[in-house]
Amino acid sequence: MSDASVNESQVRESLRDVNDPEIGRNLVELSMVREVRIGSDSAVRIDIELPTPAYPRRERITAAIEAVLNARLPAAGPVGVTYSWKVKGKETGGAIGLRAKNVIAIGSGKGGVGKSTVAAVLAVGLQSYGAKVGLMDADIYGPSVPHLLGVNQRPEIVEQAGPDGQVVRRISPIDADGLKLMSMGFLIAAEDPVIVRGPILHRTIQQFLQETAWGELDYLIIDLPPGTGDIALTLSQLLGLAGAVIVCTPQKLALLDAVKALNMFRKVKIPVLGIVENMSGDAFGRGGARQAAAERGVPFLGEIPMEPGIRINGDAGQIRAAIAEGSPSRSYLLHMCEQVAMQIARSLLETPSMPTLEML
Ligand SMILES: Nc1ncnc2c1ncn2[C@@H]1O[C@H](COP(=O)(O)OP(=O)(O)O)[C@@H](O)[C@H]1O
Ligand SMILES: [Mg+2]
Repeated sequence: MSDASVNESQVRESLRDVNDPEIGRNLVELSMVREVRIGSDSAVRIDIELPTPAYPRRERITAAIEAVLNARLPAAGPVGVTYSWKVKGKETGGAIGLRAKNVIAIGSGKGGVGKSTVAAVLAVGLQSYGAKVGLMDADIYGPSVPHLLGVNQRPEIVEQAGPDGQVVRRISPIDADGLKLMSMGFLIAAEDPVIVRGPILHRTIQQFLQETAWGELDYLIIDLPPGTGDIALTLSQLLGLAGAVIVCTPQKLALLDAVKALNMFRKVKIPVLGIVENMSGDAFGRGGARQAAAERGVPFLGEIPMEPGIRINGDAGQIRAAIAEGSPSRSYLLHMCEQVAMQIARSLLETPSMPTLEML
């Protein structure tokens, strides 16, 4: 090898000077440099492992790598950067046999703000990037998931090998184009009133988590019912969640709703990933939830416009159409998905204490 060539360790050393634009730490420290190869003419090929397939604008990493290598290693030939991804998580569902890397609850301080819509969009959105996703409807009295995804099937019971080799019976989730769904709506006829009382409610949620054959998931999204936090408490007793996403509308009173939701999650010890503003636009104004997030030191995860297409698609069981190309809300919805995924990636690097919640 001539003096004018570069080697792998020089490249890796230089990559310590490249900060990840989303997380603000260097690529080596973040274990994002999966492979470095030096080809003929000192061509440099680098594979970067992203913490989520929903990583926004990865070309910023490419530009930062090129800039640093050009400055630090003039002998390097052309630089090519490729990307792979691997979702990491707390994987705390192990105790109940749930193999979901990240469990995300969607909640709010009041009803009708678009929790179910946001939960469904998050699920189809993260799936559209390539992640393995499940969507669990924890609204036992008023399930929305079958309606939003346009499916109405009865789940099958399957027999699987349990941890000790014994045969266990599991409910097979409904598969909606690769997205795995579970909802009370699949288990009862739409017109049946659901009569489930406290202890049975707890048991039903546990069954949904534990006795559904979810398989391995990168993200399990849980649509919470409106209310006091009983279900959130049940969840937090069963597993460690990646966190909660709070949905708020943009009115001036958004701060009150946000605080109510923040207090609820704090009480049940579920970390808060951040706040989404839904239905922003003329009728409700704009920016109330963003301001609430700023005032409470909680990450703001994006705004979703008040857009008739979202309601129409949801009502038609076509919520996927809201994120399809050409949909006016697509960029907002995908941005929100990216922000949630990145907030999870960031929170995994933090210490287990919850700095944002101490500010309440
Ligand atoms: N961004 C939006 N633009 C227009 N309509 C929306 C939007 N978000 C939600 N909706 C509509 O608002 C209603 C309530 O939403 P939903 O997701 O069921 O709320 P929640 O689960 O909080 O009760 C639904 O009819 C839904 O289609
Ligand atoms: Mg709902």
